Amino acid sequence: MKFQAIIFDLDGVICYTDEYHYLAWKAMADSLGVPFDRTVNNRLRGVSRMESLDIILERYNGTLSRAEKEALAEQKNELYKQYLSRMSPADLTDEVRSTLNILDEMGLLLAIGSSSKNAPFILQQIGLGGYFDAVSDGNNITRSKPDPEVFLKAAQMLCLEPSQCLVVEDAVSGAQAGHAGGFQVACLGDASAAGAGEYNLSTFSELLDVVGAEERIPYGA
Ligand code: BG6
Ligand code: MG
Repeated sequence: MKFQAIIFDLDGVICYTDEYHYLAWKAMADSLGVPFDRTVNNRLRGVSRMESLDIILERYNGTLSRAEKEALAEQKNELYKQYLSRMSPADLTDEVRSTLNILDEMGLLLAIGSSSKNAPFILQQIGLGGYFDAVSDGNNITRSKPDPEVFLKAAQMLCLEPSQCLVVEDAVSGAQAGHAGGFQVACLGDASAAGAGEYNLSTFSELLDVVGAEERIPYGA
């Protein structure tokens, strides 16, 4: 088989928490009077919570102390967690669920590589707590995407080399992280539209073609 494992980003790949990130950041930005829209929001994909805040504050007229910034990040996270607490296994689409199950049945190891500190809670909410062979997330890394740390740690947990694993991402920063770590990358959403991966997919289930396919377009060709 071409790959022995697949390492999935979580937000925007397995489930659509990216919209909740947007709504929670939007509420925080509105409370500060800072302009924030979906274009800025796209720059936050894959980026850590505090780095996301710094990007939003590029449009803030003034300076904030470290403690004030931490309070703002906490305010956003509290609202974000309220959205997450309303999630359930119904938020996992049939397409994602059945594709994961087929990949699992093919004997592939399946892992998560997410910058989010909320990843374990989200997986629990959508009924995937304990499903993955490894979970590498914002709680076990010191540098977020585009640094490859989160994916390298996932590969390490699986006892595999990057060349044996496929990374799946919706963020350009995440695709860059995969490449920086020596992984091939399958992209969805924004990253796919940007042509950021070796495989730029329209749907999650196209992953089945990727793992079965003989041919691939070399990255950058
Ligand atoms: C990533 C999201 O998965 O997690 C980013 O794409 C987010 O937008 C990051 O900032 C950190 O998330 P959390 O849940 O730790 O605030
Ligand atoms: Mg994502």
